[in-house]
Amino acid sequence: MAEHNKRVAVVTGGSRGIGRAIIMELAEPGVSVAFNHYDPPDDIAADETIRMAKEKGCEIEAVRLDVSDYQAVHDYIKGVGDRHGGIDILVNNAGITRDNLLSRLKEADWDAVLAVNLKSAFNCTQAVARSMMKQRYGRIVNIASVVGAMGNAGQANYAASKAGIMGFTKSIARELASRNITVNAVAPGFIETEMTAKLPDKAKEAFLGQIPMGRAGQPEEVARVVKFLVSDDAAYITGQVIHLNGGMYM
Ligand SMILES: NC(=O)c1ccc[n+]([C@@H]2O[C@H](COP(=O)([O-])OP(=O)(O)OC[C@H]3O[C@@H](n4cnc5c(N)ncnc54)[C@H](O)[C@@H]3O)[C@@H](O)[C@H]2O)c1
Repeated sequence: MAEHNKRVAVVTGGSRGIGRAIIMELAEPGVSVAFNHYDPPDDIAADETIRMAKEKGCEIEAVRLDVSDYQAVHDYIKGVGDRHGGIDILVNNAGITRDNLLSRLKEADWDAVLAVNLKSAFNCTQAVARSMMKQRYGRIVNIASVVGAMGNAGQANYAASKAGIMGFTKSIARELASRNITVNAVAPGFIETEMTAKLPDKAKEAFLGQIPMGRAGQPEEVARVVKFLVSDDAAYITGQVIHLNGGMYM
């Protein structure tokens, strides 16, 4: 932890799914979490995350913010850092899918997925890096995906964004290692969240058929790996992609 006397974490896409589970793993007294999301304004998921985190004694704040907006992200991260005296943990979790086969993939869907899933990590990481370097401490975890390593028909945009996350993770890990900042990625397989709930039954069955453990993963199973990577026990782990997929990819 840096010199400020609490642990400060920023989690992108924290209103639901894996992001919310990560916040719940981090949430405890002495921890302050700032999360963002981009749900419709009338969606109550973020309020529920706030309520759940407060119940665990965690200080928490949320904002509706598009992580692909470079300037907005820089202003946001600066605000969080100034208010709390620094940021210890960044989890780049926000992500979207816009699936289609290559021949039908719209340019707008390519651009949107690359912007929200990959450019966002650049935006947020660059924004926290300077202050983490100054405090000589930082933990950055990027949420990739098994399809970034395996590929998946109908997900060229998504797979490219997640493979990009892996290359980004390793590059930034090399740049920041000497300042005691670790940068790792977690690559989940098929996890039960709203993102996968909207898949057609056939696609869900196809995924399940590829998983030797024969079941989907739970957001909490991803969150516990993130919690380990930001802990002192993981101080010597950097530049790694931790796969978590029930054996779907080895
Ligand atoms: N669910 C899975 O099976 C699975 C597998 C591998 C990787 N992942 C990755 O895990 C991460 C979380 O996925 P999930 O399943 O919890 O998804 P989800 O759809 O349940 O939640 C996504 C979160 O990202 C936020 N978000 C979306 N667009 C945003 C934007 N432009 N700016 C800010 N926030 C935005 C949403 O508001 C929400 O909080 C994503 O990066 C996803 O690609 C998910």
